[in-house]
Amino acid sequence: MLNFTFCNPTKILFGKGMIKDIAKEIPKEAKIMITYGGGSVKRNGVLDEVKAALPGYDIDEFAGIEPNPAYETLMRCTEKVRDQKIDFLLAVGGGSVIDGTKFIAAAANFAGEPWDIVKSFGRGVRQALPFGAVLTLPASGSEMNSGAVITRLATKTKLPISNPHLFPKFSVLDPTKTFSLPASQIGNGVVDTFVHITEQYLTYPVMGKVQDRLAEGLLLTLIEEGPQALADPENYDVRANLMWCATLGLNGLISAGVPQDWATHMIGHELTALHGLDHAKTLAIVLPAMLRIRKDDKKQKLLQYAERVWGISRGDEDARMDEAIDKTREFFERMQVKTRLCDYGITAEAIPAVVEQLKAHGMVKLGEKFNVTPEMVEKILGQCL
Ligand code: NZQ
Ligand code: ZN
Repeated sequence: MLNFTFCNPTKILFGKGMIKDIAKEIPKEAKIMITYGGGSVKRNGVLDEVKAALPGYDIDEFAGIEPNPAYETLMRCTEKVRDQKIDFLLAVGGGSVIDGTKFIAAAANFAGEPWDIVKSFGRGVRQALPFGAVLTLPASGSEMNSGAVITRLATKTKLPISNPHLFPKFSVLDPTKTFSLPASQIGNGVVDTFVHITEQYLTYPVMGKVQDRLAEGLLLTLIEEGPQALADPENYDVRANLMWCATLGLNGLISAGVPQDWATHMIGHELTALHGLDHAKTLAIVLPAMLRIRKDDKKQKLLQYAERVWGISRGDEDARMDEAIDKTREFFERMQVKTRLCDYGITAEAIPAVVEQLKAHGMVKLGEKFNVTPEMVEKILGQCL
């Protein structure tokens, strides 16, 4: 097991009806900006429930944080936060709203050029406004981590940022607030969570037995509950387990002390930035090819994954790894997430631009062994068509 420091300060309020307790987490004298997206929280009543839980508070709202949150939009909110001397932010929505709110929290009092926060991948952040979150879409894990992914529309740039100041003070996870999700977003959430876990598990062994079993347990839960959520969307226990899975999938617990990959995500971000695909859909496309091309690097963990997650323990090693990769693709398709570029009308002509963007962003040695080069990315994308 590798050395690690683990600290996660976010308080989780989990379960039906927990929104009513948020006033206990926010200073009485706070000037609050509630941030949200395109309106789903109005339609499903979550916004009203949040406001009803904050009687007597000084509250303003900012609507319009889009999926794959745009720097241009977030700066409009940042200006409003500065003008109104807001001192507490409350994100109500999915990963995009929470990520966007993390950027606003960091930008509000940032001395330099706000885009430098993203250009430095969050390293330049020295402080952030306190903020909380009410999660309505389990997927990104943003509700309990210090990361975010910000897009600059003008340059079609989508980059990850991370900084210890960007943990939410608290997050409410009420599974009933996910009942209004369309099937496509249920599928996206399960696939994004699945790939978060494989990015931190399908690497190379370091005797991280605890982390492996935790990761495998989360994967098995996704496989068991994911299709159930599509079949029975208002099943509270199914949605509760998926919600907690998504949070534990990217809150630092399973990555502590083990190597991490993230090549699939970095390529996925470029596909989203260039072609507007949902984040999870890009991962469903890239992961199977990533695993196939890098079978040698990942052999020991792929064989463990095949056996412990898919029950594949017989036959020659290569066949076992191939079968596990096929099972992974089949699972994504079962979650109604297509797994080929052609399913989204994208052809081989699109590949050079993705590779160029990765190079422009300095992402030329990706993966747990820093050996996923632009040439390898080209090969991987060639297998995604
Ligand atoms: O905009 P609204 O009206 O809120 O509608 C949203 C949006 O259209 C809708 N939605 C959310 N909750 C709903 C709902 N519709 C009905 N009922 C509900 N309860 O769903 C759509 C997608 O929402 P979004 O927040 O974009 O999805 P998700 O939560 O998957 O977040 C995706 C973003 O997370 C980033 C991705 O890059 C992407 O920008 N990620 C963040 C990470 C992190 N912070 O650690 C890591 C991840 O790998 C990921 O990159
Ligand atoms: Zn993701």
